[in-house]
Amino acid sequence: MEYRNLGTSGVRVSPLCFGAMTFGEADEKSFMHKVGSDESTSHALLDRAVLAGINFIDTADVYGQDGLSERVLGAWFDKGGGRREKVVLATKFRFVMGEGANNRGASRFRIMRCVEDSLRRLRTDRIDLYQIHMQDITTPEEETLRALDDLVTAGKVVYLGASNYAAYRLQDSLWISRAAHRARFVSLQAQYSLVVRDLEREHVPLCRKEGLGILPWSPLAGGFLSGKYERGQSAPPGTRMEQWKKRFAAFDNERNWKIIDAVKAVSKETGATPSQVALAWLLGKETVSSVIFGARTQEQLDDNIAGASLKLDDGHRRALDAASAIELGYPYQGMFDAQGRW
Ligand SMILES: NC(=O)c1ccc[n+]([C@@H]2O[C@H](COP(=O)([O-])OP(=O)(O)OC[C@H]3O[C@@H](n4cnc5c(N)ncnc54)[C@H](OP(=O)(O)O)[C@@H]3O)[C@@H](O)[C@H]2O)c1
Repeated sequence: MEYRNLGTSGVRVSPLCFGAMTFGEADEKSFMHKVGSDESTSHALLDRAVLAGINFIDTADVYGQDGLSERVLGAWFDKGGGRREKVVLATKFRFVMGEGANNRGASRFRIMRCVEDSLRRLRTDRIDLYQIHMQDITTPEEETLRALDDLVTAGKVVYLGASNYAAYRLQDSLWISRAAHRARFVSLQAQYSLVVRDLEREHVPLCRKEGLGILPWSPLAGGFLSGKYERGQSAPPGTRMEQWKKRFAAFDNERNWKIIDAVKAVSKETGATPSQVALAWLLGKETVSSVIFGARTQEQLDDNIAGASLKLDDGHRRALDAASAIELGYPYQGMFDAQGRW
């Protein structure tokens, strides 16, 4: 596997990052109920991923409810064999955990608790990439950034990352960190796939300019791009879209089926699977440092890992770009794209 720098930071990560959202069997209170894998399967998948060269794992305190995903990872590290040292470990804080007035958000008060809780569940003494799961407009960004910088100074956290930020807020945050000479975000984790390309309006140019590595989440649109879903048919039993009916209904439109057709056509011509094609499309983007994929079974994992070595030619990229093109809207269309004329 060819390792890449995480944004303009010095740490090297595999082009595929194993997403831990499916780790552990969550109960009915969790959005991950019935769409995850049990602890021993998750551990076997982790061992296999690391053996194949994956050195980057992404989790969050909220995955699986009450820190289940972090606990599954902590138990895997505890098996020894240098497992912890082999990976760049990313987790997130910010969403609702537990009870009380301060059970959410990115205040200094909350961050200091969240980091200790994650370290305890993960059974480690440092988090390599600590990410805010979504901007918190109820807390001044200065407060959040100062607290995060203190964690870096204390050695509990190595790098900082943002996730699900508006572009204006991300730019503000980078300026605040720069002006105060504090550790700044090195990456942006955001939804990005052939189906969801909204990031290309503002975030992609911003990350290119500022040197942030993009970490796309749900690169297969939760499995929709794997080719196992068909126009006019209900989701196959045992799949995520069978459980997440509203998500499937949102995906079920003509634009998305045309994308699936294009993915399948490229798959046929290259001999790669649809999932590999969808991952390779993202991996070919210069601002993408690592693609955070999910896998519940060994077959899915092996399939996706092979996507890391697939290089799409220009013709295939153009076909996928055209099928998945989005309306950029004003001022990108009709103004910016006509710059030569004005
Ligand atoms: N920052 C955020 O807000 C945020 C949000 C979401 C996710 N994430 C991160 O991104 C990671 C990945 O998200 P995701 O799980 O939605 O990613 P994904 O790769 O788009 O979807 C993974 C799911 O697709 C199916 N699948 C995967 N590979 C397949 C294959 N080769 N063939 C057929 N089906 C396949 C499996 O579901 P089934 O077997 O159930 O069909 C699997 O659980 C998460 O673990 C998390 O770390 C972050």
